[in-house]
Amino acid sequence: MTHHRSAWRNRWTFMLATAGSAIGLGNIWKLPYMIGVNGGSAFVLVFIACIFFVGIPLMMTEILLGRRAQKNPLNGIETLAIEANASRHWKYLGGMGMITGLLILSFYSVIGGWVLSFIGAAASGSFVGMDGTQSTANFNQLLASPLTLLFWHTVFMIMTMGVVARGVNSGLEKANNILIPALFAILLILLGYSMSVGDMSASFRFMFSPDFSKITPVAVLSALGHAFFSLSLGMGSVMVYGSYLQRDVSIARATIYIALADTLLGLLIGLAIYALVFANQLAPNAGPGLIFQTLPIAFGQMPSGSLIATLFFILVAFAAWTSAISLVEPTIAWVVENTEISRKIATTILGLIIWLIGISVVFSFNEWQNVTIIFGLNIFDTLDKLTSTILLPLGGLLIAIFAGYFMKNSHVQEELNLHQWSFKVWILMNNVIAPIGIIGVFLYLFKIIQ
Ligand code: TRP
Repeated sequence: MTHHRSAWRNRWTFMLATAGSAIGLGNIWKLPYMIGVNGGSAFVLVFIACIFFVGIPLMMTEILLGRRAQKNPLNGIETLAIEANASRHWKYLGGMGMITGLLILSFYSVIGGWVLSFIGAAASGSFVGMDGTQSTANFNQLLASPLTLLFWHTVFMIMTMGVVARGVNSGLEKANNILIPALFAILLILLGYSMSVGDMSASFRFMFSPDFSKITPVAVLSALGHAFFSLSLGMGSVMVYGSYLQRDVSIARATIYIALADTLLGLLIGLAIYALVFANQLAPNAGPGLIFQTLPIAFGQMPSGSLIATLFFILVAFAAWTSAISLVEPTIAWVVENTEISRKIATTILGLIIWLIGISVVFSFNEWQNVTIIFGLNIFDTLDKLTSTILLPLGGLLIAIFAGYFMKNSHVQEELNLHQWSFKVWILMNNVIAPIGIIGVFLYLFKIIQ
């Protein structure tokens, strides 16, 4: 059975799509509150180090695996394992990625739903004149309404699966072309506003004055996990996007642009948000509700605030949307390339499964708040921590080991096409530094658990 495989139209659409996958709730919702929860600058430093030493080399690795195999991650890794005379069982690494993506999307979609509901709230002017107490109450009221959460989770899932069902090329490339630059433009407006009314210097100190005493094992673990989450690594999103990529694109250059854009965007959003947090005497460690509680206060005070807030949450929704798509594409590609099941049917079934798991996440914010799964974590926290701190780094570790120690160097180099010395740097990072870093963090994790 031969299938026509889609391909990106050119290198820019690949870069925008991969940046679209990377830039999402991880940057705008998760990174800012994680910085707060993990004590500010220490976390930021470790996060940047993880992006640089682990994220960038592994993003190159995922792209090269995908492009060489020209298949979905599961069959792709199998093909490469055969080419390398390694065990075919490596293919289960692709399977693990599919499950990870499914678990991530089941909570990602619920948060995406929060964003959608905030678009309406912003547009109707409900942030105008809001103070800290009102804003917190407003957010808590949303969390306490399972039906509202379920409704928006459903809408987000339909949006996501609707695009995936249509295939890679048509809507997505065009959407990313417009949305990503627009996101940066809105970010600049927000940053400008935040600089003029917020406490930028307090924010800067909070995020960047190094305090090495705060580098705790938990901070390191979360930072590494978030580097994977933010760059979409460790589960095959980037690999499947790489499999639609043409041969003549420099993987290293594309990776550096994407990783820089993703990291910068996250840090700038963090700066803007904390400037507002400190200017309004709010707590920096508010947790997952941070952007939903602090930004409305700022929007409610600025001229044309409702318009800007509406625009902001629309763009967050678009960022989340383009990321969510990449969480299911590996699995859909696998089904389509192996069975006679149509893309539409496959998407519907997978969407239903993820939607169902998502319902338990909806309840974990209200009715099932006290239901704990592992280590006293509720359903949302379990899914979040399990994927970010265990499954993604584990996937990344195995990907690095496979490419570094099982594939032929000459085959890797055919894809990377680097100068001799930079190839050596990649080998050092992929084969030594990244694996040691990940294993080290896992050892820390075992110590914490005990
Ligand atoms: N990177 C996205 C974000 O920051 C989320 C995401 C998309 C992701 N695909 C992924 C996370 C694959 C981990 C693995 O919002």
